[in-house]
Amino acid sequence: MVIDLRSDTVTKPTPGMHAAMVNAAVGDDVFGEDPSVKELERKCADLLGMEAAVFCPSGTMTNQIGIRILTQPYDEVICHKGSHIYKYEGGGLAGNSLVSVRLLEGDRGRISVEEIEANINNVQDAHQPISSVVALENTVVREAGSYYTLDQIKNISQFARAQGLKMHLDGARLFNALIETKDKAVEYGKYFDTISICLSKGLGAPVGSVLVCKKELEPKARRMRKAFGGGMRQAGFLAAAASYALDNHITRLKEDHVRAGELGKVLSRVTWVKSVMPVDTNIVIFSVIDQITPEKVLSKFAEQHIKAIKFGAQEIRLVTHLDFDDNMLTKTIDVIKKLSF
Ligand SMILES: Cc1ncc(COP(=O)(O)O)c(C=O)c1O
Repeated sequence: MVIDLRSDTVTKPTPGMHAAMVNAAVGDDVFGEDPSVKELERKCADLLGMEAAVFCPSGTMTNQIGIRILTQPYDEVICHKGSHIYKYEGGGLAGNSLVSVRLLEGDRGRISVEEIEANINNVQDAHQPISSVVALENTVVREAGSYYTLDQIKNISQFARAQGLKMHLDGARLFNALIETKDKAVEYGKYFDTISICLSKGLGAPVGSVLVCKKELEPKARRMRKAFGGGMRQAGFLAAAASYALDNHITRLKEDHVRAGELGKVLSRVTWVKSVMPVDTNIVIFSVIDQITPEKVLSKFAEQHIKAIKFGAQEIRLVTHLDFDDNMLTKTIDVIKKLSF
């Protein structure tokens, strides 16, 4: 048995999802003729209380399109310093949108109205890029899956919009946040211009993300998807898996959070771990003591068929997901407790 905790992207389709894929009605989506894609897009827009949605191959693409259609070249995007859009999308913001970024310190990945206010440039001063978008991430991957509540988001959005700023959400793991906050997904649409959600993370679909947006942004989003090479043909096979994931795999995310919490607890009690970040959802990030390296721990994990990833000079990340069950949890806890250096 291999236990893969590198990411929640490693899941395989369940039998039910597989059947939904095989039986999907499909057509050429570049011609706008794939019924399963249309159904998924409608479902996502309704779910988040927005008017339109565009199915894309990846969360990187939905984020990049979102920023591209909300900015002009030379603008500036305000976001947290560890944001996926800045740190892990290959410099896409610079290349695709020709924008600069203003990186905020934040509190476990969450930025505040006060910080945003202090970082808006003076539009009258030609030296400074024009601040045009606030981009939030929920949950925050770099900060062990910390999350915003809807109230926090509402405050940020109301302030940002009063300043003429647009709002983008990287909601790759939005449903993990919603499971904890119990906020209503449908409220989210009020506070953003564009929202990216990933179906291929905790929700367990093999491929796919959706950019949910205002109606007037849809043609631009579709144009940019084409320009970025993201127009897919019989994409209904993938959309059917994504729809199945939305229908069946949201409430079970709580199980992932409970298992991640258990891992965090055990890690905080062993001598070779220096500290564990608070575990709020399905991501566990911990630092190993100075005398050892993450590589050393990872190779001992590998001997026990457990996969994890290095996530900083002394850090390791574990992510729980649909294919990590209670048996695997028991085995992982056992290995963690028995490791010695
Ligand atoms: C927070 C966040 N946003 C966006 C992405 C990008 O998703 P994709 O891998 O589908 O491009 C990821 C991927 O892990 C992520 O963690």
